[in-house]
Amino acid sequence: MPEFSRQVTPLDHRTAEPIVSGGQIEYEDFPCIIDVIGPLLYTLFQERWQQTQVGHVVEGSVLELEFTQAPKICVLYDGYLTVVTAAWHLHLCLEEHHGGPWGRTPPELRQQRRIQRASFYRRLNKRSQARSWGIQFWNGAGEKMMNLFLPNPFVDDAEKLLPEGKAQLDKLSLYEELRDIYVLGVRPIPYIENPLKRPYLSVCRSSRCYPSQKWQPIIEALQTAVKQEGLEVSVMTSGCLEVCTAGPVVFYSGDRTWYTRVTPEIAQRIVHEHVAQGHPVQAHVYPPIKTQASVQP
Ligand code: FES
Repeated sequence: MPEFSRQVTPLDHRTAEPIVSGGQIEYEDFPCIIDVIGPLLYTLFQERWQQTQVGHVVEGSVLELEFTQAPKICVLYDGYLTVVTAAWHLHLCLEEHHGGPWGRTPPELRQQRRIQRASFYRRLNKRSQARSWGIQFWNGAGEKMMNLFLPNPFVDDAEKLLPEGKAQLDKLSLYEELRDIYVLGVRPIPYIENPLKRPYLSVCRSSRCYPSQKWQPIIEALQTAVKQEGLEVSVMTSGCLEVCTAGPVVFYSGDRTWYTRVTPEIAQRIVHEHVAQGHPVQAHVYPPIKTQASVQP
């Protein structure tokens, strides 16, 4: 895996898209690799969520969602970023989605799903005046995906238009700051590692793979062992981890390993032997070790 770089290499790629009703959208592309998009999205969803809105704008449909508090979950699993708030959640494909431990997603679909183009944009009116600012993503089929709306100086906090001459231009500071980092590369990424690549352990809490749903002892055993080892590894619960059998199921993101039939004792071994020392607990790895080599994506 390439070393994390805090310096974005500018693409110097700018385009304009006419708007049928007049005006245009100006795009400035930036690299859509995980070590660039990851830090950007982490900033917007975990640190600057108060200034971020999520949605899409396509012909015939506009969606705008705001955060009323910090998201409860912001985690990358098998290529998809999941962000969960009290009222709604989103999934956005940042890397290849392999399709769980068996790698069932066909190669073409992996390419189609993930972000293949990313741009900062300004939407200009007929008089070439910028009137909205944000970030646009496209998938591998060239379709517009999610839109991130950045603060607009022409509206107040209730989204009402401000009177002429009363624009709050300081609201553009987030757009300018992020553009400096991710489009122009004149400021460093504000992390020493990709925050979305920090390792974590998760336990499936769905009843499909573990009817009794007694995942609490597994979580507790993992948390205790992580603490004993003094590791910087988050422990969390999750929805389906695409195993759906022989629960409790545990996933270690550090090297994409799934475990089945995890007991509290096995949970402790996963941390002490695998996470701390790099030796997976083979008897519980899924798919079983004798077939794993032939099915790895
Ligand atoms: S329901 Fe637990 S892994 Fe799918």
